[in-house]
Amino acid sequence: MPKVIVLPGDGIGPEVVGAALEVLREVAPDLTLEECRLGGCAYEAEGDPFPASTQAALADADAALLGTVGGAPDSPWNTLPRPLRPESGLLRLRQHLGVYANLRPVQVMPGLEHLSPLRPEIAAGVDLLIVRELLGGAYFDPRREKGAEAAFNTIGYAADEIERAAEHAFGAAQQRRGRLTSVDKANVLEVSELWREVVTAQAANYPEVQVNHEYVDSVATLLVTRPERYDVILTENLFGDILSDLAAVLPGSLGLMPSASLGEGAGLYEPIHGSAPDIAGQGVANPAGTILSAAMLLRFSLGRSAEAERVEAAVRAALAQAPTRDLGGTASTAELTAAVVRAL
Ligand code: NAD
Ligand code: IPM
Ligand code: MN
Repeated sequence: MPKVIVLPGDGIGPEVVGAALEVLREVAPDLTLEECRLGGCAYEAEGDPFPASTQAALADADAALLGTVGGAPDSPWNTLPRPLRPESGLLRLRQHLGVYANLRPVQVMPGLEHLSPLRPEIAAGVDLLIVRELLGGAYFDPRREKGAEAAFNTIGYAADEIERAAEHAFGAAQQRRGRLTSVDKANVLEVSELWREVVTAQAANYPEVQVNHEYVDSVATLLVTRPERYDVILTENLFGDILSDLAAVLPGSLGLMPSASLGEGAGLYEPIHGSAPDIAGQGVANPAGTILSAAMLLRFSLGRSAEAERVEAAVRAALAQAPTRDLGGTASTAELTAAVVRAL
């Protein structure tokens, strides 16, 4: 029986994960679901945001489903030594699992164009994939320091770190519309120059994929004005973090955006949004991004594409009937989840 580690986390995490579990239990009742702690809740209970108990449970797991971690702006968690903060727990989890390729699909599902704040002619038909390198760059570079008068971080990449993420992006482009846009800042940064060289060299192995390179600042505009230009976007960790939150404007809410993080072993699945302290505990969070992440888990870690498609179709139907508050609707988390389960 496949084993999935469930990490509700902090803030709205338990609310959106609870919704995804209702759906998973319906479409995959044979799964073993084991709940563990990650983030601020783990620090409070076990003194570590990525505790040994969670690490041990992951050892024989097929996948992990995560909600969100982190506190409000005034949370005492934000002044803990950095390794003890909730966000460090998440970064350590990603590193522990070796999940270097973060897939963040951006889709405006047919019939849901009206949920986008953008004009329907821009939003309609959007279907792109951001492949974000997840274990490199400023997030993990040990060359970092903070003093009272000065501080620095470093964006370092080794060629093989670029290569392995790019491989995922090329593979995805082959399966999709055959276009790959590599996003960098090569007009200013040496690390982007290397990024561009590595991607260009790799392109020779994928003659059927059409590759181009664009600067991240320009992509920030084009992504939300001419999204049809993009099929697969490949970019480094920090650029990918920012561009994917921006891309959420296309479908209409951060709450709609799922992700899959893949590497050598078990995959990690999580919505791209944070713990939303401003609405936590109110039962109004949009669970769609987490439910769609569970669909990605079924597809990529368990090879259950038919079930994944069933879930995706049900989410689409439910959002048409019962949009949540972030989408201009009135449905609660529970009401949208019930609509998804009914539509399965
Ligand atoms: P956020 O994504 O939590 O919230 C931004 C805005 O989007 C808020 O107004 C929030 O209410 C709204 N929102 C987000 N998800 C939603 C959903 N599912 N339904 C409805 N509305 C939703 O970003 P933030 O406020 O910058 O960060 C809050 C905390 O979350 C911080 O501690 C941050 O470090 C953490 N964070 C965690 C993750 C993660 O766990 N992967 C990701 C981003 C931020
Ligand atoms: C995300 C989040 C995380 C990131 C933070 C919480 C570490 O913003 O998953 O997008 O920056 O990767
Ligand atoms: Mn982010």
